[in-house]
Amino acid sequence: MFRLMLCVSSLFFLALSLSHGREIASNLHGIAFAAVTTENASRAAQWYSDMLGAKHLTDLSFSFYGDEHYNRFFQKEILQARSLGVDPDTLGVPDISDAGNYEVRGEFVLFDNGLVQLIEFARRDTPEHITYPKYIRLTGPGVLRAAQICLWVKDDVDFNQFVDELERKSVAGGYDKVIFNRKVEEPNEEAARNASVADKGITLDSGNFAGLSFAYMKGPSGEQLELYKMVNETRYYFGKEYCKRKGVTTAFLKNYRDNDYKKRAGLTGQMWGLVQFGTRTDDMYGSVNFYSNVLGSQMMEYPMQAIDLHGDIFMNMLYQKETLEAKRLGVLPRDFGILDVSTDSGNRIDYRFNLFDNYHVETLRYTDGTTLSGPSFPGHYNHTSLAYIGDMAVAFHVNDQADLNQLVADVERRAEDQGFQGVKANRVVDVHTLGEHVDLEDYSRPFTSGNLEGYNYVHMKGRTGEHMMFVQFRGAMGEKIKKAMLEYGAVSTAWRETNPWTYGGYDEFCSKYPAPGAQTCNP
Ligand SMILES: *[C@@H]1O[C@H](CO)[C@@H](O)[C@H](O)[C@H]1NC(C)=O
Ligand SMILES: *[C@@H]1O[C@H](CO)[C@@H](O)[C@H](O)[C@H]1NC(C)=O
Ligand SMILES: *[C@@H]1O[C@H](CO)[C@@H](O)[C@H](O)[C@H]1NC(C)=O
Ligand SMILES: *[C@@H]1O[C@H](CO)[C@@H](O)[C@H](O)[C@H]1NC(C)=O
Repeated sequence: MFRLMLCVSSLFFLALSLSHGREIASNLHGIAFAAVTTENASRAAQWYSDMLGAKHLTDLSFSFYGDEHYNRFFQKEILQARSLGVDPDTLGVPDISDAGNYEVRGEFVLFDNGLVQLIEFARRDTPEHITYPKYIRLTGPGVLRAAQICLWVKDDVDFNQFVDELERKSVAGGYDKVIFNRKVEEPNEEAARNASVADKGITLDSGNFAGLSFAYMKGPSGEQLELYKMVNETRYYFGKEYCKRKGVTTAFLKNYRDNDYKKRAGLTGQMWGLVQFGTRTDDMYGSVNFYSNVLGSQMMEYPMQAIDLHGDIFMNMLYQKETLEAKRLGVLPRDFGILDVSTDSGNRIDYRFNLFDNYHVETLRYTDGTTLSGPSFPGHYNHTSLAYIGDMAVAFHVNDQADLNQLVADVERRAEDQGFQGVKANRVVDVHTLGEHVDLEDYSRPFTSGNLEGYNYVHMKGRTGEHMMFVQFRGAMGEKIKKAMLEYGAVSTAWRETNPWTYGGYDEFCSKYPAPGAQTCNP
């Protein structure tokens, strides 16, 4: 019964997305990158490449500032500050305008199925390295709009060993913000570090997610990361969704071979890249509708939703760092954005996976109570600025043939048509109200020189105010990324040469699943 219901609802979503989102969806190549705000972008790039085997694209290192970028990054917060009569700095906005003294710096690292963009906001008026010093106070995943990146560990790796080694190497490398949660209660962080190898991750061998191993951790700037390993049923269901979507990942690719970057990283380089970008919403169906109807994602079917994630092991694994912090500070866990999922009667977590071409956006709803219709769990950020260290944005990859500005205008219009207020892009020029009508060329302008020549970007807030970007890689930028992907053995639907579907790379794997577009709901 439950299964049937889901099936009907996903057909409904599909029908809607076909009628409304066709041109937008057909101009997106999935997720170009997750942007992460760090304390030190080059040090973060070092961690992602040394530890996890990513390729640091040093020919794409960048720094920029100016009024256009100030508006594009922070228009919503600037307008808010203006209406409150306060300095934008009080809302977490570093002044990267022509008159200010900060700039954006960044690095790209490449994984099997996408990039991570590591940015920092640093003072540009001194040779010293001074980062914009705003940290997210509530670092846990229970906070509204909190984002996380989930990395995909290979299925033949010993998961606990992987976590153990990643932690050991991070400690040895002096990355003291890299902290792992445990499934067992620990009195303090030192004891948590000493946990036995067998307690490092959670492996589920029955239930909806049979075959999934996962662990929660923080990255080098305290950003929220997660690790997934999938075998058995979970891998089967993921595989089915990728085949149906014609999505790309190295996990299901024929004749896959490790590159030198992964080999150099050893055990902790044994990954398939990225598996999800997570973001917390206060309206599950609204968010799913936005990603599927407006942007054309494919909602993954049964059994990929959390309906029984309760118990101490989940509680510890999700919130251990924050629980220890709350204890140290003497604040109530609840006031620290920590849900109670230790028992069936506490709070409830739901989520849906919205698959794009290369990985999915996970929308999570945390409920205060145990029914989905209950009020949203109250934890919230006081800010929306991407300049907070540890914050993240998801960047959608726009076809280089498309008109980026037109596409963004279409996204705004469709979102509004469907009743999603506030889904508005920042402009290049100053405006009086967010989303104000401007000429199309004032939505964004590409870089015409430097390492980012041919790159263009737009910042927008999603359904719950989550940070979202639309980016385009044209000219030199596109060539550099394509070349790096080919050298790394990465996959993307953006180029013929990087898309295994063009040479039958998934034929063997997908032959055991229904053909794309076929009715898949019959038992
Ligand atoms: C930032 O990271 C680089 C590369 O690891 C390092 O050389 C530099 O000292 C770091 N800066 C600061 C202020 O920590
Ligand atoms: C953790 O392990 C170290 C080294 O084995 C030991 O010195 C320390 O006492 C342990 N700490 C705790 C809290 O168990
Ligand atoms: C996966 O399936 C194999 C074979 O049935 C079984 O031995 C193993 O325990 C399963 N692993 C998980 C994590 O469910
Ligand atoms: C939000 O701001 C209010 C007042 O400015 C403060 O009391 C509260 O602790 C802040 N909440 C968070 C989650 O930072």
